[in-house]
Amino acid sequence: MAAIVILETILFALALMVQRTSSWSVSCSNPNSACYGQLQSCPAKCAQWCEVDCTTCNVQCACDKPGAVCQDPRFIGGDGVMFYFHGEKDKDFCIVSDPALHINAHFIGKRGSGMKRDFTWVQSLGILFSSHQLYIGAQTVASWDNNVDALSLSFDGQPVILPPRIGATHHISEAGVEITRVQGKNAVTIEVKGSMKLEAHVVPITKQESRVHKYEITSENCFAHLDINFQFFNLSSDVNGVLGQTYVPGYKTRVKVGVPMPILGGDQNYVASSLFETDCTVSKFGAASSGIIRPASPLSCKSSDSGRGFLCRR
Ligand SMILES: *[C@@H]1O[C@H](CO)[C@@H](O)[C@H](O)[C@H]1NC(C)=O
Repeated sequence: MAAIVILETILFALALMVQRTSSWSVSCSNPNSACYGQLQSCPAKCAQWCEVDCTTCNVQCACDKPGAVCQDPRFIGGDGVMFYFHGEKDKDFCIVSDPALHINAHFIGKRGSGMKRDFTWVQSLGILFSSHQLYIGAQTVASWDNNVDALSLSFDGQPVILPPRIGATHHISEAGVEITRVQGKNAVTIEVKGSMKLEAHVVPITKQESRVHKYEITSENCFAHLDINFQFFNLSSDVNGVLGQTYVPGYKTRVKVGVPMPILGGDQNYVASSLFETDCTVSKFGAASSGIIRPASPLSCKSSDSGRGFLCRR
């Protein structure tokens, strides 16, 4: 009897440890904040990636913040409005297009049986600025292994190699680029000085997601893709693209707010002929700029626990 109790205690302790290590802890890095340096663990629905809002001290899923492009692309606009843009699998779409910055996303996906559209995910980004081309992408993998790095990076066509440890950094000083691993594998930040910063995580479609959303994922391909959060420092008031347009001051959203799945249509306005082509209809890259948007105070957003509602405030 005693032996069983001890065994149970050990198992319980193990379970706690696993749970603690499968969820990340985060803290606010602004010394002026009331919660500076206080560790808080990430909520279950974003156990791997959350951030502390230093103003409210609330923990927020990175995919619920303005500038997020996650999952079957679910966007949070600069205006705080959540929407989906499905595009089409194996095609490229202009998500940000501004005179000095252009970002295309390559969509992968599959057609579910009996569906009129594709399930899609963002596999890679082509980022253009000055005369440079920066690539970040998820490699195609059959079954997911967290211990294998499925991230690909290149700058002006040359592969960028980063040692697999947190904090490993690659500088490209002449272009103002800094790429840093935020986890040992599968997660980096990319900063283009004075222009933008993003954090991207390579994630698979899990069996559970496949079952819930009826993606019908097989063991040949787990559709590894990117979950991304963008910050922009120098957008002009001409900015366009699926995500970019939502940063224009006074932008009136064209999606139906309040429904569970607001969808942005008009795919033909955003489609580009390849990952580094700036030929979408809404393209602004290289055009004259009519003024920079002054950054407003950041929005703080929260999705309801049911995952249906979505609320932002300044
Ligand atoms: C900021 O935007 C302006 C206008 O689009 C552009 O001329 C300038 O090069 C940009 N600066 C950076 C660092 O991207």
